[in-house]
Amino acid sequence: MTTKTATRLVIRGGRPLRGRVTVSGSKNASLYALAAGLLTAEPVTLRRVPAIADIGEMAEVLRSLGADVTIEDETVHIEAREVNGRVPPADQVAALRASFLVMGPLLARFGEAACPPPGGDVIGVRPLDVHLAGFNALGADVRREGQEFVARATRLRGTRIFLDYPSVLGTVNVLFAATLAEGTTTIINAAAEPEVAMAVEMLNLMGAKIAGGGTNVITVDGVEVLHGVDFTVIPDRIEAGTYLLAGVATGGDVEVIGATPDHLDSLITKLREAQVLVEPCEGGLRAARGDRFQAVQLQAVPYPGFATDLHAPMAAALTQASGVSIIHERVFENRLLYVGELRSMGARITTGGQAVMIEGPTPLFGTSVRALDVRAGAAVVLAGLCAEGETTIRDITHIDRGYAHLVERLTALGADVSRE
Ligand code: EPU
Repeated sequence: MTTKTATRLVIRGGRPLRGRVTVSGSKNASLYALAAGLLTAEPVTLRRVPAIADIGEMAEVLRSLGADVTIEDETVHIEAREVNGRVPPADQVAALRASFLVMGPLLARFGEAACPPPGGDVIGVRPLDVHLAGFNALGADVRREGQEFVARATRLRGTRIFLDYPSVLGTVNVLFAATLAEGTTTIINAAAEPEVAMAVEMLNLMGAKIAGGGTNVITVDGVEVLHGVDFTVIPDRIEAGTYLLAGVATGGDVEVIGATPDHLDSLITKLREAQVLVEPCEGGLRAARGDRFQAVQLQAVPYPGFATDLHAPMAAALTQASGVSIIHERVFENRLLYVGELRSMGARITTGGQAVMIEGPTPLFGTSVRALDVRAGAAVVLAGLCAEGETTIRDITHIDRGYAHLVERLTALGADVSRE
């Protein structure tokens, strides 16, 4: 796992990034896959799991429930023969929102699940109503008991469930519960993110009967039991997008190996609209910025729309585009933490409600900034890479949550970056 001892990242900017970089497995999809390991008593092996702090935290959550979890490089072995009936410790759950994904599997397999409210990045209200209403619709008695959410059911029963919002974690949690329910569950307004589609693929390999993964309607025919699996996680589309944008921001030419074009339609379309050359290359995608780099307007919405996780890195890149760009954030209400940091580096950005207006191109200047969440952190890294002089980034544990081997990868692309 990535060390947490280094606290600052120092970037001496102004070098166009050039070359090839290979991305890791998807952070979020790996978290879902770890939680899925609780659905079976048989061994589960996961490959291409990124070496980032969140994975270690999720492994701790599973261990706290009695599962055996070992991590060797990018391979994770899980064996959850039995669970101990304990509740995951509140401090662990507070560190990681995905830890709430233990609820669906525990409820489905053991008829009872309890978990404190989860934490995660401070990027909005992030309620749990979609998860809890889903469990309830499947027949569980769901209540808050002291510091915990508790769900109980002698046997879950399949039904038609409309999700109030296509919440990603909510979809996955309800899906987990439905795999072992009696009868058929239809999830309407399901999240269609590739990470959800991957979870469906993994569950089907474990013996589940699920159709419609990657669409807004998922149908689950409940089965009695799920089996072990040896499964390779999909590449991280957000990490891929971030490196493509690092190349664009610095006026460079970057090939990202593992970038899956089909998962990045919205980014590719917006970059082409901005006059950036984006084309498939062997094993991935290439983005090269020529002389023209035009402002664009976009909204961050659920998949397949522009990813909220790429909003902040895109904004950093757009500080270098000619004209006025507008980004409207429509997923999380507190995604704009990066704005103040970029402004302190010289960016001309203003906000109005959930919209951000960026005037460019603007020269950026190195200064001391903070990584306020994982994607806000990526934005200041990109800004630092284009800035004149030295940028010092504090609170980089946030960045380490989403970007494995960041310094090594950026260095390979020609950046001057180090940890202190
Ligand atoms: N929402 C509800 N009710 C719920 C749950 C969510 O209204 O029960 C609302 C939230 O308030 C928010 C919106 O739905 O406005 C989106 O939240 P969603 O539940 O889809 O997000 P999430 O599942 O908590 C995951 C990723 C995020 C990513 C979002 C959107 C994980 C661990 N997190 O969060 O990733 O931004 O989906 O794609 O998978 C990141 O990687 O940096 C990150 C924050």
